[in-house]
Amino acid sequence: MVRMDPKLVVAILLLIAVSATADYVRPKARKNLDFPRKSRGSSHPHQVHISVAKDKHMRITWVTDDASSPSVVDYGISPGKYTASAQGESTSYSYLFYSSGTIHHTVIGPLEDDMVYFYRCGGGGPEFKLKTPPSKFPITFAIGGDLGQTGWTASTLDHIGRCDHDMYLLPGDLSYADYQQRLWDTFGELVQPLASARPWMVTEGNHEKENIPLFKAGFQSYNARWKMPFEESGSNSNLYYSFEVAGVHVIMLGSYADYDEYSDQYSWLKADLSKVDRNKTRWLIVLFHAPWYNSNKAHQGEGDDMKAAMEPLLYAAGVDIVVAGHVHAYERSKRVNNGILDPCGSVHITVGDGGNREGLAEKFLNPVPEWSAFREASFGHGELKIMNATHALWSWHRNDDDEPVRSDQVWITSLFSSGCLTEKRHEFRKILMSP
Ligand SMILES: *[C@@H]1O[C@H](CO)[C@@H](O)[C@H](O)[C@H]1NC(C)=O
Ligand SMILES: *[C@@H]1O[C@H](CO)[C@@H](O)[C@H](O)[C@H]1NC(C)=O
Ligand SMILES: [Fe+2]
Repeated sequence: MVRMDPKLVVAILLLIAVSATADYVRPKARKNLDFPRKSRGSSHPHQVHISVAKDKHMRITWVTDDASSPSVVDYGISPGKYTASAQGESTSYSYLFYSSGTIHHTVIGPLEDDMVYFYRCGGGGPEFKLKTPPSKFPITFAIGGDLGQTGWTASTLDHIGRCDHDMYLLPGDLSYADYQQRLWDTFGELVQPLASARPWMVTEGNHEKENIPLFKAGFQSYNARWKMPFEESGSNSNLYYSFEVAGVHVIMLGSYADYDEYSDQYSWLKADLSKVDRNKTRWLIVLFHAPWYNSNKAHQGEGDDMKAAMEPLLYAAGVDIVVAGHVHAYERSKRVNNGILDPCGSVHITVGDGGNREGLAEKFLNPVPEWSAFREASFGHGELKIMNATHALWSWHRNDDDEPVRSDQVWITSLFSSGCLTEKRHEFRKILMSP
């Protein structure tokens, strides 16, 4: 038996202990990925992604290089056997010297809930597979904003792919194309494996704007490529809409559309909230880009005007959870309203940490505001598993050395279960009826 010097043993044990508790070293921003050009037929469908449309329907979106491919989707519940077919529409746009491919949008359905479908786009090409969301609890959302297309984005997407989710919610800043339209195409290719299999429900961030004063209106590329169910939800803009899934009402607001009380968005939000039957729909979730509760130095106060305009409506309606992006870090609040802790207020979560090329926002304000429950500057993603009418499990997973590490986890109980809704509804009606 080898005898070891006891001092050496102590030194080794110390070294192990120190390295196990050593401070987590923040990784640096990573560069955009390289996307080698693939050779393929001009009718080959690429950038395939899906989103929920009207009840029991799914919108399939894809791009072809040619303009003559039909906007048709064939689908069925067995591979290679397509028992139904739907015809859609197509669009394209040009932007300075760039001309987009043909962007097809085709709504399929009615579809069964919680069911796998096989489909192909444009009457040929490869087969894709999607799963429709369940009609009742539990339902799992993967959530993360400010994705971009870097090495960190790739690891975030890898982790989201490993989480068994029903839908992905993205609170703005998708491709970071920033006027380079080709980057919208590479982003579409990067997310296709996930976005062709589960609905991706997105709202716009500042990086989607791409306007040129007096020359180009904003959101041209975003609106053409990421068409969301705004018509289905009575909105007249792709920048804000809502949908209902498994007893959860999800509202996507626009931080970059007018939101004052005379705006279309404000009237639409009021109308949408008043239609939600809280006897049936137990959870109410709202997403937008620029956070209202943010104790990071980055983008400090940018959400304040929208908060002042819209928070009273959300409070009166009893919104359970508000998710934002924009700040490249993670933060979770306690239930709060108008800056004050309130058991009937919303939980605010910022997840602008998808992995974009701009890097992390590492400086937080001190002292920590009373409403802030958890904050950490790291890339990562969130998972929201709604178990039933009263309980949801929220967790946030940081990209530590490319492995997902659960860093924050908390049970969130619904406002319905804490008895906040009855009184709220009354208050809400009063606001609705006020001129
Ligand atoms: C909701 O349920 C309560 C009691 O169960 C009932 O009084 C109320 O009318 C219901 N509201 C709606 C909008 O159905
Ligand atoms: C809801 O889910 C939570 C967590 O799993 C559980 O403790 C609770 O009993 C459930 N409630 C009902 C009514 O099933
Ligand atoms: Fe942003």
